Amino acid sequence: MSEIRLAVIGGTGVYKLAQLDGVETREVATRFGAPSGPVRIGRLLGQKVAFLARHGEGHSVPPHLVNYRANLAALKEAGATRVLALNTVGGITERFGPRVLACPDQLIDYTWGRISTICEEPGSEVIHVDFGEPYTPLLRRKLLAAARVTGARVVDGGCYGATQGPRLETRAEIGRLRRDGCDLVGMTGMPEAGLARELGLDYACLAIVANWAAGCGDEEEITLAEVLANVDAASAGLPELIAELARG
Ligand code: HPA
Repeated sequence: MSEIRLAVIGGTGVYKLAQLDGVETREVATRFGAPSGPVRIGRLLGQKVAFLARHGEGHSVPPHLVNYRANLAALKEAGATRVLALNTVGGITERFGPRVLACPDQLIDYTWGRISTICEEPGSEVIHVDFGEPYTPLLRRKLLAAARVTGARVVDGGCYGATQGPRLETRAEIGRLRRDGCDLVGMTGMPEAGLARELGLDYACLAIVANWAAGCGDEEEITLAEVLANVDAASAGLPELIAELARG
């Protein structure tokens, strides 16, 4: 059986991979418990890809309750070594308006109370992974190269601020993130990226900007309808982009 070229974790608004053919469904139990849903393995424009919906396919798992460890372990057990995380985010700084796709290169973790390491079980070895570059540089470069091939516009770089959710942020909170140097804000970037590093998985983020973060645009209010419509519009070229990344 051929190897999985890439695993994709879908975020808010991306509950399946369009154009994934010949899908085999695996319900995987991991040493960390159950993932958010089944792993779907199939061919995306010829490339063998695995997909998992981070919040479950019916969006029933909120960001702070996602079993990030089980999700990543399930993909690893399926044979994946590289993970592309799709994260729906709000844009804070000028280059990151709604419907932009971005490949951040840094992050700041504002989440709390989430299980954020695989070395928590009594007796397990404590590891301190290097995290200066939180996303795998080679996978980022390959994603940006794939975007050039398929013609997808992907902003190179930016800092992702991971907030606790599930509520959206106050304007003051976004002001603080902006002063800290964040360009994007989302609720699921951590602990996922850190756990991927601990598990030895290559990991990059493709952020889908769904809205201006609180106080950054003209909207009085951020609505789920706006978020989902923008994710849908921005996702049109994803199958080609993901297949090209899987190929490379
Ligand atoms: N904040 C946090 N997470 C998000 C946002 C936001 O504005 N939009 C989509 N996910």
